[in-house]
Amino acid sequence: MKVHGRHYRTLWPGADGASLEIIDQTRLPHEFAVARLGSLDEVAHAIRTMRVRGAPLIGAAAAYGLCLALRADPSDAALRAAGAALLATRPTAVNLRWAIERMTAWLKPLRTEERAAAAFLRAAEICDEDVAINRGIGDAGLPLIRAAAARKPPGAAVNVLTHCNAGWLATVDVGTATAPIYGAHDAGVKIHVWVDETRPRNQGASLTAWELLNHGVAHTVISDNAGGHLMQHGEVDMVIVGTDRTTAAADVCNKIGTYLKALAARDNGVPFYAAVPSPSIDWRVRDGVREIPIENRPAREVTHIAGRLPDGGVATVALTPEGSAAANPAFDVTPARLVTGLITERGVADASEAGLRRLFPERAGQHRPV
Ligand code: MRU
Repeated sequence: MKVHGRHYRTLWPGADGASLEIIDQTRLPHEFAVARLGSLDEVAHAIRTMRVRGAPLIGAAAAYGLCLALRADPSDAALRAAGAALLATRPTAVNLRWAIERMTAWLKPLRTEERAAAAFLRAAEICDEDVAINRGIGDAGLPLIRAAAARKPPGAAVNVLTHCNAGWLATVDVGTATAPIYGAHDAGVKIHVWVDETRPRNQGASLTAWELLNHGVAHTVISDNAGGHLMQHGEVDMVIVGTDRTTAAADVCNKIGTYLKALAARDNGVPFYAAVPSPSIDWRVRDGVREIPIENRPAREVTHIAGRLPDGGVATVALTPEGSAAANPAFDVTPARLVTGLITERGVADASEAGLRRLFPERAGQHRPV
């Protein structure tokens, strides 16, 4: 997508052949900064601290983390250790495991001296595939928005509510939940996005709003608690969220707070869609509530908040009384029964095991009970 008129992806290999460059998402929306990562440890740290974030993007970053590890040491042991280190960074998004397993399967049969160069080629393929998948999600989701537009009075905007950031910043490019939104906007469909702020890290207020603003899409940032009220008053035509892991039975794990939006949507008859790229489907699990590990992040993300001061500087301030405990579960699971449909690169699936199996027949039967 474009930033200040120039096209960017969220990450790309450094021109020196020995690094990864990323858009540092911890600096947005106040500063657009590119950071250079020169080692496996720096990539793992960037994933853990969410300088890169979003399920598809952390998969792509991990692929490049393996590249940098293999430049330093192409042995089997180093490949195994790098995969384990990257996998330990964030437990919930399955894209991390997907990318590491894929890269390892490609690279392990190669001679050690071939591995580093091959790894860079394969990581680039993963990035290009992510972009193609997201375009597919855009094509599959656009008719849903067009249909909603056709039900509105002439000239009225389709109101889409989204949670967290499942935009281009969360992927290599284009985004998942935002792909149909950008597609509709570019096709001239009048659209307006309600952007959940998404406490505690404010990915909606900081990142989704920044993206939509850059692309000229009408949007309004709302507090996380406002969605139910807006739905009760007919102000939301559909919800589209992303996912960090969707099970074979279509339970959708996504940023904390997504489940509450799904409950409110069901109570108000508002369609609730998840944009699900196939690498985010965990075919080995069915019951999302029981089987998906939920990341617990530092309490400080709840007790403190960063923002821009009148002098342009960015400062972090405390929100809570010193001494109060805080908990920070980072994701929740929306059961399939609350999901209207899954927007995948192969089309819109019913939110059920049968619905997913119809679109991905080659993946059936991979469930491994815990
Ligand atoms: O903790 P984050 O910011 O990495 O969480 C991101 C989300 O929950 C997104 O909705 C999800 O990864 C889908 S991104 C296309």
